[in-house]
Amino acid sequence: MNDIAAQPRRLENLHTDKGKVPVYATGVVEQPWDSYTATDHDVWRRLYARQCELLVGRASEAFLRAQDAMGMTLDAIPRFSDINEVLSAATGWTLIGVEGLLPELDFFDHLANRRFPVTWWIRKPEQFDYIEEPDLFHDLFGHVPLLMNPVFADYMEAYGKGGVKAHGIGADALQHLTRLYWYTVEFGLIREHGQLRIYGSGIVSSSGESIHCLESAAPNRIGFDLERIMRTRYRIDTYQKTYFVIDSFEQLMDATRPDFTPVYARLATQPSLPAGTVLASDHVFQRGSGEGWASDGDV
Ligand code: PHE
Ligand code: FE
Repeated sequence: MNDIAAQPRRLENLHTDKGKVPVYATGVVEQPWDSYTATDHDVWRRLYARQCELLVGRASEAFLRAQDAMGMTLDAIPRFSDINEVLSAATGWTLIGVEGLLPELDFFDHLANRRFPVTWWIRKPEQFDYIEEPDLFHDLFGHVPLLMNPVFADYMEAYGKGGVKAHGIGADALQHLTRLYWYTVEFGLIREHGQLRIYGSGIVSSSGESIHCLESAAPNRIGFDLERIMRTRYRIDTYQKTYFVIDSFEQLMDATRPDFTPVYARLATQPSLPAGTVLASDHVFQRGSGEGWASDGDV
């Protein structure tokens, strides 16, 4: 906790078949709140205002309620210490400041201990609509509200513990688990009162995808199915071709409670699925038109 660094230190960019993946230093940092510029606060304000307007009627009730309760405002970039007072009282989670993406095992270990790493820096005005890597807006606005929800808070801790275990089992297990995170925590949809709503943080922090995921004819919208999701590839630099829909956070918790060791063993013998595939066994809410889908890369 005392490994304090004031500046983000980018170590490298990994080029993968899913796109460029930046890799950062691992230290936990004090949020350098006083060093945010007027421009930083203004970026927060404009992103916050735009997303709040878009998310009414689109984000899940749990997200919207939690966001109110957490006391983030449009005025300025929140102080992690203020958020932590409310969050730790609600579910025992705390935020920690980080410089960016962490190595997998560090990340899992934080989650397993109910610590959520939040990137301390915010995107530049020229990255307003799109940024390749997680910044403060994505992490804080996107991920933190649902940590106020008791069931989701437990899911995230269980995921962290499952991550430590998968890491020990091997690269394939880890890849299967990572897909679960992607299609739930980052890009999940939930059905509320018969209507689809957003809970994934990658969506709630993106104005374009907030609309696209619910209103576009292009993507598939398919009912949650654990092993099906774990077989499904994804890419990180375009809108998703497929969104998976849960009925409740309890469903997510129940489906992921069993030991995944036999699941990983079973999946090891099955081919992965391209991101846009629809299977006969899928519960299809909407079959995507496929319009505008990228055809390059591993999807
Ligand atoms: N039950 C999972 C396992 O045995 C742990 C887990 C829980 C993983 C919730 C993801 C989400 O690995
Ligand atoms: Fe994220």
